[in-house]
Amino acid sequence: MKPQSFYITTPIYYVNDLPHLGHAYTTVACDAMARYKRMRGYDVYFLTGTDEHGQKIERKATAEGFTPQAYVDKVAASFADLWKLLDISNDRFIRTTDADHVAVVQKVFEQLYAKGDIYKGSYEGWYCTPDEAFFPETQLVDGKCPDCGREVEWTQEEAYFFRLSKYAQPLLEHIKAHPEFIQPVSRRNEMIKFIEGGLDDLCVSRTTFSWGVPVTFAPGHVAYVWIDALTNYITAAGYLDDPEKFARYWPADVHVMGKEIVRFHSVIWPALLMSLGLPLPGQVFGHGWWTVEGEKMSKSRGNVIKPEEYAAEFGVDAVRYFMLREVPFGQDGDFSRMNFIYRVNADLANDLGNLLSRATAMINKFTDGRVPTPQPLDEQVEADRLLPTLADEVMDRAADAFDKLAFQDGLAEVFRLVGAANKYIDDVAPWSLAKTDEGRVRLSTVLYNIAETVRVSAVLLAPVITTGCRELWRQLGLDISPLEAGWEAARWGGLEPGTEVRRGDPVYPRYDAKAEAQRRAAAQAVTAAPSASPELAPAPAAAPADVAPPSEEQITIDDFAKVDLRVATVVEAEPVKGSEKLMKIQVDLGWERRQIVAGIAKHYSPADLVGKQIVVVANLKPAKLRGEVSNGMLLAASTTGEPMVLATLTPDKPISNGSKVK
Ligand code: MSP
Repeated sequence: MKPQSFYITTPIYYVNDLPHLGHAYTTVACDAMARYKRMRGYDVYFLTGTDEHGQKIERKATAEGFTPQAYVDKVAASFADLWKLLDISNDRFIRTTDADHVAVVQKVFEQLYAKGDIYKGSYEGWYCTPDEAFFPETQLVDGKCPDCGREVEWTQEEAYFFRLSKYAQPLLEHIKAHPEFIQPVSRRNEMIKFIEGGLDDLCVSRTTFSWGVPVTFAPGHVAYVWIDALTNYITAAGYLDDPEKFARYWPADVHVMGKEIVRFHSVIWPALLMSLGLPLPGQVFGHGWWTVEGEKMSKSRGNVIKPEEYAAEFGVDAVRYFMLREVPFGQDGDFSRMNFIYRVNADLANDLGNLLSRATAMINKFTDGRVPTPQPLDEQVEADRLLPTLADEVMDRAADAFDKLAFQDGLAEVFRLVGAANKYIDDVAPWSLAKTDEGRVRLSTVLYNIAETVRVSAVLLAPVITTGCRELWRQLGLDISPLEAGWEAARWGGLEPGTEVRRGDPVYPRYDAKAEAQRRAAAQAVTAAPSASPELAPAPAAAPADVAPPSEEQITIDDFAKVDLRVATVVEAEPVKGSEKLMKIQVDLGWERRQIVAGIAKHYSPADLVGKQIVVVANLKPAKLRGEVSNGMLLAASTTGEPMVLATLTPDKPISNGSKVK
């Protein structure tokens, strides 16, 4: 039997800019998914590429002194190079200038025209060249483009239109009948509202520029953005030239993209496919956007994050891991160098790397460098059953999460296992077992469990940490990569007793977070200091303008100890009716569930909070806010400026609810 197929795509990226963190995010996420599915035995087809036509690109090329073709060749190569560097395993890199794609675009135009879904009309309106979009007068802001604020030009031209309006009803029916079609749910709801508002026909050809695919039946017309771009997904699946491949991979299982282009993929694309009589993709997934230290990432702000620079400094695994672990896929996230270092240190260096070196060091010391044979199950003590049981549970839960593109949850699961293994070492203290004969019998089980946890974790993390997973295995004495071994290799018990471990360098080095924080503070002080002259002594550090001044009153440790701070998980959240600010949350404190009312509704949606671990003051006298009992207080940091920034405090790795914070 042929393995089941799985077809996944990224958007094709515009070549008007060099690749950055945002592009890398989608591509790494799709790569992790593709690798995970391959590990599970699927016949995966993973597509990415570049979107190379249009007036904007034509103008950019001219401005830089290139022909359009030479210009797109150059930028497309920088995308392809970055994907190579980031260990992206795409099966094809499609370019809209590829000959087979040009043929598909022309064919699709002819088919839609023959069907009566494309007609000739005239287009006029205010046109923003950088955005390649027309805007009605009413949408302009101060006479300029509502999206980018730049000048717009009045443009009128003969154009072909696609009867998008005809497909509003069938689209709504499809979306309603297939809840999984648009994900996450918030985007699905937005799309339903948008379509219910009615759809206008879509301009699909242009005559004012020539850098595009010529429409065969209309001299002077070239295909205009979306037909040219969206059809890449069927070109690569073999629409015109490979019926067998097309039958195998089409419809795509999931198109992944940033939230801003979900509309094109869940409205225009399915309408085009309906018109062509082709089945619709299984899912359109819109992930969130990255900001950088709270600001939009842009060239003009000079804050564009270049993944290759981070990869050179911290390694490819760190970049891939951070992006997928830091933020729930689907929600917006904020990138900061400091958080990057904290995350990579905490998870990869401290938790995972450390577990491996503890395992190999102890095996070297106590069992001659060979993985010991664990005791028979019925002779093991209860505590030694913990890791095997947890590992099986984590394997299933990580799979469930990855299947839903919930990378953050999947990775958090694996680190729950890694954390449990480190705690197991601390609790059991294997070195003390080595002191007695009886202890040494148990020691072989304990050491086996620790090494096996590393082996299992490396498999479960392999779709993301594609280099380190191999090194983790290598140091355990295994010579293939977990990526080749496949997902089932994560089943407990796969490590053969007697395997010779190889102690090696730390797989993930630890970075100096303190030095980084000091550098940052110094840099901030320099920017904040009023034009200091070099001969003056440096001004004493002042609090930044947007934070409250430090407290003058000192407290004793006993004062602090009165506050019972605990970790809790938010299990439910809903805004308090009639209040803009208040959110009612139910939290699990480990020993009980309770309700807390917090002033965070302007900063978090219920979906942002549910499942999150927070820190609460557990011994605060209950109070009533807007008629709702609040039994505790949630800790959050906030600035004083407008708009106020507010961030809840979260432990940097999962920990038991009720854990004390001090
Ligand atoms: N060419 C179109 C897509 C056509 S698909 C048939 C396009 N290209 S783009 O170069 O602008 O790429 C947009 C994509 O880049 C987003 O959908 C997202 O995948 C990624 N990102 C760009 N900036 C981003 C962030 N700041 N954060 C997260 N991802 C973002 O649109």
